[in-house]
Amino acid sequence: MIKFEFTKDYENKYINKKEEVLDKFNTYEMTGWKDKVILNDKILDKVKEVKSNSKLLLVIGVGGSFLGSKALYDLFNPYFDTNFEVLYCGYTLSSNYLSDLIEYINKHDYSINVISKSGGTKEILKTYELIKNEMIKKYDEDELKKRIIITTGTKGKLYEEAISNGYTLLNIPDNIGGRYSMMTDAHLFPLAFNIDVKKLIDGYNEFNLIDEAYEYASVRKTLYDNNKLIEDYIFYEEKYTMFGEWLKQLFAESEGKNGKGIFPVSSMFSRDLHSLGQFIQEGSKILFETVITVNKNKELSDLIDTNKKIIEGVKTAHKKGDVSINTIEIDELNEYNIGQLIKFFFYAASYSSILFGVNPFDQPGVEKYKEEIEKL
Ligand code: PA5
Repeated sequence: MIKFEFTKDYENKYINKKEEVLDKFNTYEMTGWKDKVILNDKILDKVKEVKSNSKLLLVIGVGGSFLGSKALYDLFNPYFDTNFEVLYCGYTLSSNYLSDLIEYINKHDYSINVISKSGGTKEILKTYELIKNEMIKKYDEDELKKRIIITTGTKGKLYEEAISNGYTLLNIPDNIGGRYSMMTDAHLFPLAFNIDVKKLIDGYNEFNLIDEAYEYASVRKTLYDNNKLIEDYIFYEEKYTMFGEWLKQLFAESEGKNGKGIFPVSSMFSRDLHSLGQFIQEGSKILFETVITVNKNKELSDLIDTNKKIIEGVKTAHKKGDVSINTIEIDELNEYNIGQLIKFFFYAASYSSILFGVNPFDQPGVEKYKEEIEKL
């Protein structure tokens, strides 16, 4: 169960616009993510095979082809001694990172999953080339066929690579964009190594939080109208860091267009209470908080009381510092709840973008940087 409490610090002039916004939402084509998700069985068979021949899976992806599964991988794995190891690359062309990574994976048997909806993102193609060259030194062609899994759209360089070499091909549907692709093969495959993706899908399919998603979107726009230009997603757990990164992409790419939008950031308390906390409390009044907490944790009994007091005390102090606060309270961290929460944020980002008067499903700014690189 998830409980929401949105700030009432300002009069919400958008709450009655819901019908208009929902009608506009229905005019967009890239909303395939709202349909019922049916798990592709091929995924589970492939997970079994990879587990039997590999010590780890290396995912190559960036943006919407990376953040979702990395976020959930961190959420559901223990801090230490992870279950099946899934490593990520493609989001940086750092030679330091990639040479250390290559040195590490070469000590083990491994498989790779290259993920790119377009099949043309430079960082991904370059990283894939680098890793494939390493694999060729270690594995013959038959082994490569078992160990290379390509997840992409219905055309493009990676699609052709998979078809011409007989590599396993997984799909990202045409009507679902990168940052909305959490429930496609792009994320479900790497996630299925460690989490119960069926329960995640159940939570997502049984989503019933449309009203809350609209209210959240309308509150955000109200805050923006009152010069709150930054939304700080607050977590009290290190393992939510990448979930914060996922949220940042979802909202920034959906809404940051035409000179408008709320700039999303995230903080991890208590760590950032001792750094950014000062600014939040007494600095420029340009931000609001959305605090995401989980009630039931694997808590050491000595800490339960202290943790509750810290959350409460910080909220009181920040409110006294004139900071508007939304809260999202999850009763327990499980796949079902996170499935619900993901769809909540998908709808909220879409409605919010529509309230800003921008298309939630394109990313013309990102395409521009890709074009400049392509020219060079
Ligand atoms: O949300 C998006 O569409 C983007 O962030 C993409 O996911 C990102 O640019 C990566 O693109 P691709 O999956 O085509 O390599």
